[in-house]
Amino acid sequence: MDASPSSPILLFDSGVGGLTVLAEMRKLLPQAPVIYAADMAGLPYGTKTEAEVAARVAGLLGRMAERWQPRLICIACNTASTIALGMVRDVLETPIVGTVPAIKPAAAITKTGTIGLLGTEATVRQRYVDDLEREFAQGKTLLRHAAGGLVALGEAKLRGERVSVDEVAKAAAGLILQPGGENLDTVVLACTHFPLLEPELREAFGKDVTFVHGAEGIARRIAHLVEGQAFQQEIPDFAVTTGELDNFELLVDAFAAHGIDRLVRL
Ligand code: DGL
Repeated sequence: MDASPSSPILLFDSGVGGLTVLAEMRKLLPQAPVIYAADMAGLPYGTKTEAEVAARVAGLLGRMAERWQPRLICIACNTASTIALGMVRDVLETPIVGTVPAIKPAAAITKTGTIGLLGTEATVRQRYVDDLEREFAQGKTLLRHAAGGLVALGEAKLRGERVSVDEVAKAAAGLILQPGGENLDTVVLACTHFPLLEPELREAFGKDVTFVHGAEGIARRIAHLVEGQAFQQEIPDFAVTTGELDNFELLVDAFAAHGIDRLVRL
């Protein structure tokens, strides 16, 4: 069935990390109506159990799909995708694009053969990541580090707070400090919040390290899936939070920079 021209693309994350995907999507689909959904009441996902994340994501996406009839949902969150993508696809009819660690492109560009992966606590322990490693990083070394502290720093940065290179370096240091860490030349940013801190991470890791994340590839995948569909903007794009509106409004400038001027509560 063809989507109605005003049917939105729904981007979902626990917080503002999904804006890194929205920025790339806007370049390819500037005319697409968008709803950005942030489960701020559930942030951070990275310290939750698999069962908690799966229940939140499936429950919220089910509710939102029914209410707003999106033509496509993008789970713009590695934690939610690596835990719940299969399950959500099983229960919703809406096409779903997930965000999974960019191990494949990282394996293609590493010269030393040692790849780092920064994700949340929950993401780095997922079988989904083991499977990607087995499939795409054979013969390479993949070092993982849970750098959940970067989630709060990414949120703070988008609220306009000062975030220092030192704080970012401290949260990510465990990646290099493990055995073999001195060999890594490519780092997968396996959490959509982390590209928000790419300038700080670059400074912390030095110029010999290349950062890879999935936002561009995800945007291309979304564009491919909606190819040929008509778009009509009937209402202004908006962002919806599960948390307090007062806190969400501290992000008004960050959303405005991504073409979203209306913030509401679910
Ligand atoms: N942005 C999310 C991710 O990609 C999760 C951050 C969190 O809620 O811990 O993993």
